[in-house]
Amino acid sequence: MKKILISGGAGYIGSHTVQALSKAGYGPVVLDSLITGHRKAVSKNISFYQGDIADDGLVSNIIKKENVSAAIHFAARSLVGESVQKPDLYFEENVAKTNRFMSTLLKCGVNKVVFSSTAATYGNPEVTPIAEESGTEPINPYGASKLMIEQSLYWLEQAYGLKWVALRYFNAAGAALDGSLGEDHTTETHLIPLILKTALGHREAISILGTDYNTPDGTCIRDYIHVLDLAEAHIRALEALDQGVACGAYNVGTGAGYSVREVVNMAKRVTGMDIPVVEAHRRAGDPDVLVAKVEKIQKTLGWQARYSDLETIIKTAWEWHQKHPHGYEK
Ligand code: UFG
Repeated sequence: MKKILISGGAGYIGSHTVQALSKAGYGPVVLDSLITGHRKAVSKNISFYQGDIADDGLVSNIIKKENVSAAIHFAARSLVGESVQKPDLYFEENVAKTNRFMSTLLKCGVNKVVFSSTAATYGNPEVTPIAEESGTEPINPYGASKLMIEQSLYWLEQAYGLKWVALRYFNAAGAALDGSLGEDHTTETHLIPLILKTALGHREAISILGTDYNTPDGTCIRDYIHVLDLAEAHIRALEALDQGVACGAYNVGTGAGYSVREVVNMAKRVTGMDIPVVEAHRRAGDPDVLVAKVEKIQKTLGWQARYSDLETIIKTAWEWHQKHPHGYEK
């Protein structure tokens, strides 16, 4: 059984990937600080270590004890707004700590890494759908930190032969089909969970943040990708690294976009509730349209989205929110 070290395996995308790896016959080994992750998001029969990716002694011991052969690196700070307020935190937690984590992996002989990157590396795209070779000009420290890590992986490849794939996620959404795992952030800023919390009565209304964008209905368009499809992309990336695929970055999206109004309307249909909506001002830093070009991952990794139609995304997320109205811990 191949043992894979999963940093951030108790987070939203990490925990779904751990479950998918386990089902696919891998042996995931989770390392998570639990600062934003949830212990309950990782099954009791999965090896779990609480700690920091920059703790060289801990990471070395885990690799030796568990006989780890590759890593998937999710652990990161991931709030765009917070990154603008505290850029130093993002460069320390994401860039500096990842650098130490990579040094430890390489020192211990682990030279295959799948990295959790983001469409925020592109900034405001000039052309949509966005191809991987488009310019990367992040407009916030979160995106900049992820791009710096991608660049560092390239140089580690040149110097030490690191094999890496960076997956640039578009808008991760949805939950496990059986309602066992879902999205639970202490500070929730994402559209779909906020709509569903409104449906549960935890919020008075969902705010549509901007109705004057350059889109058909005036609201932002995003490429929503089901977290199960994201999880599968990591497995494909691991397999491809074993088969000697060229290192580099891949978009993970569907190639189709939905506006904020379309998402709200689908949520009304799925929940059967008349979710109150208020129209509000734009949030700083939101591009009009973010949609992925997905040919590269489809052709090279043989990956295809299976669960990412908007209805399935919202149905699975709604199932999770109903079963866990206050998240994992409460
Ligand atoms: N939105 C609202 N109301 C809300 C929350 C969001 O109208 O209460 C809108 C946003 O303005 C945006 C869309 O819904 O147009 C989606 O917003 P999210 O916050 O759910 O997602 P983002 O597109 O802002 O962010 C995602 C990832 C980030 C990543 C970014 C760029 O969550 O990690 O895409 O790739 F950085």
